[in-house]
Amino acid sequence: MNDRLLRAARKEPVDRTPVWFMRQAGRYLKEYRDIRANYSMNEMCSLPEIAAKVTLQPIDRFPELDAAIIFSDLLVIYPPMGIDLQYVAGEGPQLKPTLESQDDFEKLRKLTPEVDLPAPLESIRMVREQLEGRVPLIGFAGAPFTLASYLIEGGPSKTFQKTKTLMTAQPDLWANLMTFLAKTSADFLRAQIRAGAEIVQIFDSWVGNLSPEDYKESVLPYTRLIFDELKLETVPTIHFATGTSTLLELMAQAGGDVIGVDWRIPIEEAARRLPDKAIMGNLDPALLFSPVPVLKKKVDEILDRMEGRPGFIFNLGHGILPGTPPENVHAVLQRIHSR
Ligand code: CP3
Repeated sequence: MNDRLLRAARKEPVDRTPVWFMRQAGRYLKEYRDIRANYSMNEMCSLPEIAAKVTLQPIDRFPELDAAIIFSDLLVIYPPMGIDLQYVAGEGPQLKPTLESQDDFEKLRKLTPEVDLPAPLESIRMVREQLEGRVPLIGFAGAPFTLASYLIEGGPSKTFQKTKTLMTAQPDLWANLMTFLAKTSADFLRAQIRAGAEIVQIFDSWVGNLSPEDYKESVLPYTRLIFDELKLETVPTIHFATGTSTLLELMAQAGGDVIGVDWRIPIEEAARRLPDKAIMGNLDPALLFSPVPVLKKKVDEILDRMEGRPGFIFNLGHGILPGTPPENVHAVLQRIHSR
């Protein structure tokens, strides 16, 4: 069994740097687009055979990958709560109705993952069987801020204006919602671990839009609730967000064995500031479009900066972009492999 990722997450020695990529299954792969042509995103997430197949596509194509991540989405929790979710090409996910009031909050259904989210759990069981120990399987869920932002804004946002207004103008509702979402994610992650996830990642993709003060007061206690609820589990945890150079220490206080960072911060600075944590990152996904010699140099720079530091996991600073040349992805993996 290739356990490099699990060892690095625990800051144990490894024979080489483990590597996987966020969104490693996705539109940049022809074999993904071929399946996606026949199914909506919602269908792909709710058909375990399809989700399992897509999860394994990058593993079969790139033998250098050190992990599989279950094909699903942060937002799969919303339809069973009673929220309509559609993925609109060019616009991203759209949720209806949006949450504005305590009344809206009270209409959200509390989930029992085994009953309300059977597809991702079943696809975890299927993938574990089909992986036959080749690489560990990552489960994931959203952190409450990022999940709340989609529900309050109704889709992606640049300013997070509605989210921040609800946070400041309706603090009791904010506390209720954040607690509810944190518990939902904790329950879902526990169910994923029972189903076979060997490490779990909590995505707080958009939390870097907050000031440290607001993060500390209005987000940290709720994100910490997820990690506290997972304390009795034996699997390692990854806490990922982007734009967090002013938040790193606070993020680490919220929890996670591994802290994931984007490319806006030098990786060795993150490592220096978080001596007790394993670190994951931080190649800019846009650089995957660069000429291969440039790309290899960028990979070398990251590896050089982290040389000899126990607990480093190579990843992108955010998900692979659609249109990324798969051969460049392979070149990066081979470069990491060869060192
Ligand atoms: O990393 C992986 O390979 C696992 C799969 C995965 C997806 N979404 C598949 C997906 C994971 C881990 C996610 C998490 C997710 N979903 C996040 C956190 C990570 C991040 O990117 O910040 C967020 C914010 C979402 C919400 C979401 N889902 C958005 C904003 C979008 C649209 C963006 C886009 O690229 O179009 C999605 C859709 C989505 N989730 C796709 C995939 C492969 C694209 C669906 C398609 O084929 O059209």
